[in-house]
Amino acid sequence: MSMKVGIIGAGPSGLSQLRSFERAQNKGLEIPEIVCFEKQSDWGGLWNYNWRTGVDEAGDPCHGSMYRYLWSNGPKEGLEFADYTFKEHFGKDIASYPPRAVLFDYIKGRLEKTSFRDKIRFNTNVRDVRFHHDTNQFEVISRNNQQDTENTDFFDYLVVATGHFSTPNVPYYEGFDSFNGRILHAHDFRDAREFTSKNILILGTSYSAEDIGSQCWKYGCNSVTVAHRTAPMGFDWPENWQEVPALLKTKGNTAFFKDGTKKEIDAIILCTGYKHHFPFLPDDLRLKTANRLATADLYKGIVWIRNPKLFYLGMQDQWYTFNMFDAQAWYARDIILGKIKVPDISVLNSDPLDREKREDALEDDYACIRYQGDYVRELIAETDYPDFDVDAANEAFFLWKKHKKKNIMTFRDQGGFISPMDRSVSPAYNKPWREELDDRMEVYLK
Ligand SMILES: Cc1cc2nc3c(=O)[nH]c(=O)nc-3n(C[C@H](O)[C@H](O)[C@H](O)COP(=O)(O)OP(=O)(O)OC[C@H]3O[C@@H](n4cnc5c(N)ncnc54)[C@H](O)[C@@H]3O)c2cc1C
Ligand SMILES: NC(=O)c1ccc[n+]([C@@H]2O[C@H](COP(=O)([O-])OP(=O)(O)OC[C@H]3O[C@@H](n4cnc5c(N)ncnc54)[C@H](OP(=O)(O)O)[C@@H]3O)[C@@H](O)[C@H]2O)c1
Repeated sequence: MSMKVGIIGAGPSGLSQLRSFERAQNKGLEIPEIVCFEKQSDWGGLWNYNWRTGVDEAGDPCHGSMYRYLWSNGPKEGLEFADYTFKEHFGKDIASYPPRAVLFDYIKGRLEKTSFRDKIRFNTNVRDVRFHHDTNQFEVISRNNQQDTENTDFFDYLVVATGHFSTPNVPYYEGFDSFNGRILHAHDFRDAREFTSKNILILGTSYSAEDIGSQCWKYGCNSVTVAHRTAPMGFDWPENWQEVPALLKTKGNTAFFKDGTKKEIDAIILCTGYKHHFPFLPDDLRLKTANRLATADLYKGIVWIRNPKLFYLGMQDQWYTFNMFDAQAWYARDIILGKIKVPDISVLNSDPLDREKREDALEDDYACIRYQGDYVRELIAETDYPDFDVDAANEAFFLWKKHKKKNIMTFRDQGGFISPMDRSVSPAYNKPWREELDDRMEVYLK
């Protein structure tokens, strides 16, 4: 086959794309030539922990947003690969909220058994992409950061799998420039011990706010204050944790809130989300979307409607993750292999609008989980990705939400989740999450 496929990013999404082709080859199909570009020195994306903040070794923006002691924030039963279960990888049942190192090991596991790592050019940052209408090919310019050399490649299809939780959304509030303490975004948070004995203020009410606040609490900060712009998280927080209305301004070390109250604080952590950012793409190929379940301008949430030879993986807001990336990757692969036909332009245009409309009508988180589960089901019905019990994965998310509501600081201590892949039941972890300060894989698997 003379066709060439480029994949940008070797995080979970890019690795799903590689795995999809590996599976096709394993079944005896001819596959295209593949080059995967990865700007970091190893695969795994965000799960490949990086102590650096700011710029990376090459002077480019540091990709990593994960921090020490991060444990999965959702049950592993919601993200399990259908073609490679946790039990197959670890050889036994493990608890449901693995620390980062355990999930990193799982993500790479199925490809480590193949030769597909050879298709990745590490330390190679994609700097520019152009589509040539005369040849119907993408020109991709990349730079090898170690050799400091530029390279140009041409591809028939291109897959963008660069993630969207690495470019921080950083708001400004009056007084920030004269605040007497550290102000950082969640993207630059690395170790909760930095905030031991400190009074921290968190802006934002989503997963980073919840988890970074919980980490700081676990590792001994003095107090957590979370300011909400829209609505409080509303969990039953520990006594040194307070939810307050929106921040208005800071003066010295005092934070002033919308209800007229104020508080003395030592550090501000902006858990204010991320931007979809593709500096290497020109406008005609560049996705511009909010962080939502129905991304703008992508047919089936994958295919760029203005040029269906370009695919984006994992650009949705995420309840489902790893198995959704698989479902998308298998779908993109089957378009490339000619097994799935791209419809005409009117369908390409109407599909994302229809998805947006359906998302806008969803009433609560439970409906959102079902919606994304249905999306995964829709995709896998069209490929040979192993069918799995999406309802069971939904149930795992529902149970997780119930546990969180009951006690936000003990939800990770719970077992009894059923794998949607092999029906195995997870044990509870052998220690409460609060007391387990060591997040190494060997400790977790003990
Ligand atoms: C703090 C945090 C915690 C999270 N925790 C969970 C969790 O517990 N469970 C869960 O399921 N999900 C979690 N997520 C969601 C996360 O988005 C997914 O798990 C997953 O990492 C997304 O994979 P991805 O491959 O799409 O993107 P990423 O993991 O971001 O990988 C993208 C890859 O592309 C590379 N890249 C980027 N630009 C270029 C370029 N120009 N050239 C070459 N390479 C490039 C990057 O180096 C990186 O390796 C978390 C996210 C964050 C930010
Ligand atoms: N342990 C873990 O596994 C873990 C930990 C952290 C993060 N994550 C993952 O990381 C991803 C990103 O989560 P995230 O929480 O960083 O982003 P997010 O879900 O996009 O949430 C962004 C938050 O920032 C708030 N915000 C935005 N602009 C603001 C402003 N100007 N002032 C005040 N608040 C503002 C938003 O408030 P409004 O509601 O008012 O818009 C929202 O609460 C998720 O997939 C999550 O699952 C996982």
